[in-house]
Amino acid sequence: MADFPQELAAALEELVSGQSQAALERDARAISEAYRTKTGEGRRLLTKEGEAAAYAAARMPATFAAARAAMEQALLASGLSPKTLLDCGAGTGAASWAADSLLPLERIVCLEREDAMRAVGSRLMRAGGGALARAAWESCDLTSPQPLPKAELVVEGYMLGELREEMRLSVARRLWDAAEQMALFIEPGTPQGFANLAAVRRELASLGAHVAAPCPAGAKGCPMAGDDWCHFAVRVQRTRLHKALKGGDAPFEDEKFCYLALTRDVPGAACDARVLRHPLIQPGRITLTLCDADGKRTRTVTKKDPLWKRARKIGAGDAV
Ligand SMILES: C[S@@+](CC[C@H](N)C(=O)[O-])C[C@H]1O[C@@H](n2cnc3c(N)ncnc32)[C@H](O)[C@@H]1O
Repeated sequence: MADFPQELAAALEELVSGQSQAALERDARAISEAYRTKTGEGRRLLTKEGEAAAYAAARMPATFAAARAAMEQALLASGLSPKTLLDCGAGTGAASWAADSLLPLERIVCLEREDAMRAVGSRLMRAGGGALARAAWESCDLTSPQPLPKAELVVEGYMLGELREEMRLSVARRLWDAAEQMALFIEPGTPQGFANLAAVRRELASLGAHVAAPCPAGAKGCPMAGDDWCHFAVRVQRTRLHKALKGGDAPFEDEKFCYLALTRDVPGAACDARVLRHPLIQPGRITLTLCDADGKRTRTVTKKDPLWKRARKIGAGDAV
């Protein structure tokens, strides 16, 4: 996990060191079951500090990696370098850690409903120094109507899909209202996660938002139809603790995610096309599945093609 902050890894080890492994494993299983069966209904899924610690140890490596990958593409496409961050449904802070690893942040505000998540998230962040250590953690139910504090970058990671369906667009609008430069939505890489973001895209585009990523410049609409959906994946190395909490011996896991980056101004460097799937590499030819302004298509690159050198190093999710 080359990009995973060492301070966060050490703080996670320290967090769980005082807890019984059996209790952590039990809580991690209970959380995983709750997210599988009870999400999307606005229910409180994590309320105890032991559960928050188990969430942090079991999920933060993956949610951090997804947030970092999405944010990297969003920053590239927008050409922005926000200095203030509002993390909505911050949980134990993964998206803030990801932003801090990419940006010279001066101020971080984390909004989170659950006391236990705020307690664990703020404790972990004290290990991060700088803006992370100074982060303000506020108790907030995002479905309540009061306006949110403004920030240049507003992010939500894996929160929107937890809300009841009828609340999702109004919460997305409130996040957008708070965003001075960009709002970034990151959701599970499932058909439901994609459908949630497609609805957010339609709603906020109608209010003047520009899509910076993942969509290419000039895209008129989304070409995904039927059971096709746009999602990406990051590979996450599993530590010993991670394996114990999640079961199995695989040395890594692939975290699938969807994201949507919306900007106030026309994005400075939106891509011409984005690679949607792992390239198919055969002798002398590479087949890319691309999304460009005209929609979704495959392009076969051969050795004579000017794109050949780049295509050999390209991966799913990359901009072309
Ligand atoms: C799956 S966790 C994601 C946490 C973190 N963003 C991450 O990526 O690891 C979703 C978080 O959203 C919070 N949440 C859900 N509904 C909320 C609401 N209405 N207001 C504030 N926070 C909420 C939950 O308490 C939980 O901490």
